[in-house]
Amino acid sequence: MSTDITWHDHSVSRIERERLNGHRGCVIWFTGLSASGKSTIANLVDVKLYERGLHSYLLDGDNVRYGLNASPDIIEEHHGKEFAERFGLGFSAEDREENIRRIGSVAKLFCEAGVVALTAFISPYRRDRDRVRATLNEGDFVEIFVDTPIEICEQRDPKGLYKKVRAGKIKGFTGIDDPYEAPFKPELRLEGATKDADMLAEEVISHLEKLGIIPALARSGGPLEGSAEA
Ligand code: ADX
Repeated sequence: MSTDITWHDHSVSRIERERLNGHRGCVIWFTGLSASGKSTIANLVDVKLYERGLHSYLLDGDNVRYGLNASPDIIEEHHGKEFAERFGLGFSAEDREENIRRIGSVAKLFCEAGVVALTAFISPYRRDRDRVRATLNEGDFVEIFVDTPIEICEQRDPKGLYKKVRAGKIKGFTGIDDPYEAPFKPELRLEGATKDADMLAEEVISHLEKLGIIPALARSGGPLEGSAEA
């Protein structure tokens, strides 16, 4: 533990920010294989929250790997080789651990700002995800397992990466020759193969309502409150 840095509480508290926003901050952590549907579902959830006037932001695997967690080649252009080798991230177990540590830390900042932080990273190691969970208060980390079998992910192959793996052009690809550790007890498991993305995003929204993270909307089609049928 460093002794030369001191934690300062912010003058505007999380509770005050949440009151202003009208809902709680939290981290909605999607995990699953490449092409399982994480980004698509997380984007749809982001849109649905936005349309309700709620404050959310999506941290997405591929995008974050252009900036905060850029690869050595991207960093080298402006910072030189030695620096790039030290701080750039690839896909070794250690680099994935650091990828998830940094994202977990950023997502926590969003949570403290009263925002619903959505993250869409493979995050293949249970220990890395559990470590992020442990940095947050009880109830602030909602782990969502996008459970899509590898065969379906490979059939979809939107970025042509599985094809490259089969051609021997990528090594250490999650689910093929690198591990993916499914969560034991995620807050929510989505059937990525059998339902469409919009339906799955609705399941997430309902779950957030159930957890009391976002206010529940009156659903149309059901019996009206106070009516004879209710
Ligand atoms: S994680 O394992 O560290 O959580 P992250 O979600 O940031 O991964 O990035 C995964 C994305 O990087 C994949 O969707 C894919 O587009 C790309 N990728 C490139 N190489 C690999 C690899 N070896 N394993 C998995 N994904 C890879």
